[in-house]
Amino acid sequence: MKSMVDLSHEFLKPVLHKQAICIDATLGQGKDTDFFLSQNVHKVYGFEIQKDVFESTKKRFVDQKICFYNVGHEHMNEYIHEEVDAIIFNFGYFPQGNHEITTQSSSSVSAVKQALHLLKVKGRMALVMYPHESGQEEAKCMEQFLKTQTTIQVQKVQNLLVDHCPYVLLIEKRR
Ligand SMILES: C[S@@+](CC[C@H](N)C(=O)[O-])C[C@H]1O[C@@H](n2cnc3c(N)ncnc32)[C@H](O)[C@@H]1O
Repeated sequence: MKSMVDLSHEFLKPVLHKQAICIDATLGQGKDTDFFLSQNVHKVYGFEIQKDVFESTKKRFVDQKICFYNVGHEHMNEYIHEEVDAIIFNFGYFPQGNHEITTQSSSSVSAVKQALHLLKVKGRMALVMYPHESGQEEAKCMEQFLKTQTTIQVQKVQNLLVDHCPYVLLIEKRR
């Protein structure tokens, strides 16, 4: 079966094309950006708070199609001034780094709120959630926030047989 990250990529694929503007809101080592670029999109905005992770990932992309920022995704509306087609948030911590540096409920919800404003109608956003230890509160807050939204459709895909394993929230903007 496909991983939650693979499922999120499959969900985003139909809105990716050569004019598409995308956001990788948790850059890490850039695997989601690799995916966007493999679909020949026009531009990828990327956000990462850890300087060392940011610098080493940035070095890997000499491509002109990227706009990477070493700032938190909760500031994305200060950096992006155009509508976007596709957004991915892969929450949690950098697996090969310090696990204490992880996404946080309030900044994650604030970032998703901004992302929804930037998303085009019919645009898509995928949230990969990690509801273990620190991620549990974040997942709860995110779902509570999404339930208050009236301009989107949201589907939750999760493994029925395993507790606290990663799951994905698939979002499409209706209007
Ligand atoms: C699960 S990893 C992302 C994996 C990544 N997409 C990849 O392909 O490697 C989560 C990343 O989010 C970063 N992060 C944590 N808080 C953040 C924030 N407020 N804004 C942007 N990135 C953040 C972490 O430093 C970590 O690198």
